[in-house]
Amino acid sequence: MEELIELIKETKRIALDSGSAQDITIKGTADFVTKVDTGIQEFLRPRLKTLYPDIQFMSEEKDNSTIDPRGKVWILDPIDGTTNLIHDYKMSAVSLGLVENGEPVLGVVYDPFTDELFCAEKGKGAFLNSERIHVSDADSMERSLISIGTSPYYKELADENFDIIKRIFISAEDIRRCGSAAMDLCYTACGRIDGYFERRLKPWDYAAGIVILREAGGCVMTVSGGEPSYSFPSDIVASNGKIHEELNGIINIGKQVDNKL
Ligand code: IPD
Ligand code: CA
Ligand code: CA
Repeated sequence: MEELIELIKETKRIALDSGSAQDITIKGTADFVTKVDTGIQEFLRPRLKTLYPDIQFMSEEKDNSTIDPRGKVWILDPIDGTTNLIHDYKMSAVSLGLVENGEPVLGVVYDPFTDELFCAEKGKGAFLNSERIHVSDADSMERSLISIGTSPYYKELADENFDIIKRIFISAEDIRRCGSAAMDLCYTACGRIDGYFERRLKPWDYAAGIVILREAGGCVMTVSGGEPSYSFPSDIVASNGKIHEELNGIINIGKQVDNKL
């Protein structure tokens, strides 16, 4: 873990290069990649290969079609929060998870703007800059602050999404939208927020954050109560555990048990 942390922190100089953040290519609706994203990916890729030659490498800005999910796989989001990065919103993270035979076992999420580094290994607890972290004590939605994701690349989901978000908002103290799924999971892990919901996230958005949140005592599932996929997109509900049933119930109101989102 120590050598991994040192390596990830080295991405700071790439992440904070404002010129590269403005070197933008359009991938799809509201979906961009910058030279920072590709720069961090291509910085980490050969170094991880040298340190861990047997571990496969999945990353957002490359072709992942030959990855064998039964083996060990690094899952990297070189920048989670690219739209924030482009707008100089200063809320983006480097997210690196390790999945072994479909099970997430290690996660590192690094915020280069604050130098906050969240990390966890399965069974060993979760940490923020070497301090142990735990989820909040909030035990009801009315005492909770919930972060929501808008699934910005799937505007066709907006009606359904915003119906759910409205219900969450009415039930909770308030909602937040930070623009980085990895940070939402880590903020739930350290108790700054109490839960998080977003549909159609990709494995690199959550592979690292899931380990960190679970090791901090929280709960992460799909909206239908299953394990998120590390090969395909998943609809994610995350919480401190204590409000999970209530939050998930609010999300699933009106859905058949076997026909959830
Ligand atoms: C996005 C961010 C955002 C979330 C999107 C993600 P990207 O990741 O996590 O908060 O709403 O669903 O795709 O594209 O910036 O890596
Ligand atoms: Ca992402
Ligand atoms: Ca990304």
